[in-house]
Amino acid sequence: MIICHKKEELRQELDGLGLKNQTLGFVPTMGALHEGHLSLIGIGLKENAKMVVSIFVNPTQFDNTSDLKKYPRTLEHDLEMLQALSKDVIVYAPTVKDIYGDTIISERFDFDGLEHQMEGKFRHGHFDGVGTIVKRLFEIVRPDFAYFGEKDYQQLRIIEKLVEKHQLPVKVVGCDIFRAKDGLAMSSRNQRLTKEHRSAAPFIYETLKTAKKRFGTESAHEVVEWVETQFEKQALLRLEYFTIADEETLQPLETKIKTKSYRAFIAVFAGDIRLIDNIKLN
Ligand code: PAJ
Repeated sequence: MIICHKKEELRQELDGLGLKNQTLGFVPTMGALHEGHLSLIGIGLKENAKMVVSIFVNPTQFDNTSDLKKYPRTLEHDLEMLQALSKDVIVYAPTVKDIYGDTIISERFDFDGLEHQMEGKFRHGHFDGVGTIVKRLFEIVRPDFAYFGEKDYQQLRIIEKLVEKHQLPVKVVGCDIFRAKDGLAMSSRNQRLTKEHRSAAPFIYETLKTAKKRFGTESAHEVVEWVETQFEKQALLRLEYFTIADEETLQPLETKIKTKSYRAFIAVFAGDIRLIDNIKLN
């Protein structure tokens, strides 16, 4: 497996591949790889001749320095997982300097309001950081297809908007959420949950599934109230937000009329670990 730590090395490897009529796929990650990441890479491997996987804990998308410090870094193990998966994977694991030089700052983006909803309200500057790194990685890797998980649905919509607004020559592919057997969406942050919090966490998806059923007959407002009440009874989980929003614009559904496709989005603290999830409602 090819592993590059510098963009010049990576470009040399990619240019040397001579992919003429074959396509290059790309999965950007922050490492601490799990089956959710592997599911994206697996889809990419079926659809492309080669796959680039980047592993980079991007400082500019963290609004909290302690969260950045504590973010799991397991490069050796990540490389073993990728090695076992396929010989067609090329890893790009750059240093902060290789990406940012000496000025670690974000570009500012206008994502037509997508960035002001949900995660954007609670994690200031987060999507400027995501936009900055993904745009830079696209410029370095120059993939034909890039795969993103619906686990971070708002991020997926923002990347689609980034590509559309900046006319980037890449096709963005959204992929299903990969869950543990008990329903908890796979996340690098799950590793940091205590045993008690890990046992409590499947309640998040259980609640999303019931919310989806209720959405069939109840208004968005009623469903939101019901979910909030459920979390009040949970000692180990603290609800940060539960929102029902238009899948495309991410605008919260305020009326009783349901004329579009909607999704429910949730963020929950289990101790100091923040977990997010979402479900398609109709
Ligand atoms: P990270 O959290 O490592 O996730 C990398 C990709 O894996 C994202 O597209 C994310 O949505 C997807 N993913 C994570 N868990 C998943 C799951 N359970 N099922 C399906 N897909 C899942 O998202 C980021 O990194 C960063 O913001 C990044 C895009 C790399 C920019 O720094």
